[in-house]
Amino acid sequence: MKIYKNIPLKKYNTFGLDYKADCMIHIKTEKEATAFFNGEVSWQKPLLIIGGGSNILFTSDFKGTVLYPELKGMKIEEEETENGYVIVSAGAGIIWDDLVEWTVIKGFGGLENLSLIPGKVGATPVQNIGAYGVEVRESILKVKTISTDDGSMRIFNNAECQFGYRNSIFKTLEKNRFLVTRVYYKLTTSPSLNLYYDSLKQEVNMLGKETLSNVRQAVINIRQRKLPDPELVGNAGSFFKNSVVTSAVADKLKKEYPEMPVYEEREGYKKLASGWLIDKCGWKGKRIGDAGVHDEQALVLVNYGKATGKEIFNLSQEIKKSVYEKFGVDLEREVEVIGVI
Ligand code: EPU
Repeated sequence: MKIYKNIPLKKYNTFGLDYKADCMIHIKTEKEATAFFNGEVSWQKPLLIIGGGSNILFTSDFKGTVLYPELKGMKIEEEETENGYVIVSAGAGIIWDDLVEWTVIKGFGGLENLSLIPGKVGATPVQNIGAYGVEVRESILKVKTISTDDGSMRIFNNAECQFGYRNSIFKTLEKNRFLVTRVYYKLTTSPSLNLYYDSLKQEVNMLGKETLSNVRQAVINIRQRKLPDPELVGNAGSFFKNSVVTSAVADKLKKEYPEMPVYEEREGYKKLASGWLIDKCGWKGKRIGDAGVHDEQALVLVNYGKATGKEIFNLSQEIKKSVYEKFGVDLEREVEVIGVI
């Protein structure tokens, strides 16, 4: 375990924001995580657990303790080639795309559509990350955690995670109560590809055969075209969630805007492409100081260099206001805002 005081957060958040945390603790093993939470180590509340820092917006210095899990290791736990599946596990601190790359090289299917999503393994069940017609909930078998109350271990099976669209029990009922240490994924050894997303299918066909590695490459190509690389321009992927509205609201808007993308949701609800709504309000490519709206994807807010978290937050408020005024839709942030506003 390593303890750092008064630490700059710039390299711990993909917006590249220059705030500080009073204290940061790096944890490398489950034993250290247990010791941290069962009272053997004293630390200052509040607690913030961060992975790749790819889904947070700091708006001020963090007056508390940031826990940075560095648990490593990717392994095959069980291989049932005859039944066509394999169980792999990965430590919370593994870079997500390293895991995806490894599974694709091994010929295991299930994660390939989720290639190049920034962040660490530990955040994947929390966020239920998703892209190109696939959500990680479809592959998660179980999630190993340590209770932040007393350091005890608890395993959540898939149903217990209560997954929803970019949501899980770890963001709702049990927020901040469990530290994810290891995630177990059930993958297929004779993959059936998910190419329902039209533009993905087209990209794969341009690359050649419909194979796992071509799907991964196609996703990488599309993402690199549409989404800014956080190494070059600070961003946290989609800043807002797509908007779930009642079918009545969606149908009414669709009549007015026939070209508007609408997706099926659970019974009685539909999902609207928030990027399209923001784009239609004229925000795509707009910039206020160093805070901006990405010019290829209006759902993504960017830091061109010296924006503060507050400036990015204020821009998001302006966007929310204009989408509400034009469409009556209240955008919900996907990114978690941490700090004083
Ligand atoms: N659109 C516009 N203008 C824009 C952006 C989008 O008209 O500026 C339209 C597109 O043309 C398309 C629709 O809106 O018809 C949806 O756009 P896109 O396919 O780019 O995906 P998205 O719904 O905006 C979601 C995820 C992304 C994920 C993509 C691909 C959320 C919040 N975002 O975006 O995830 O990569 O689908 O599956 O669900 C992330 O979560 O950080 C993320 C990048």
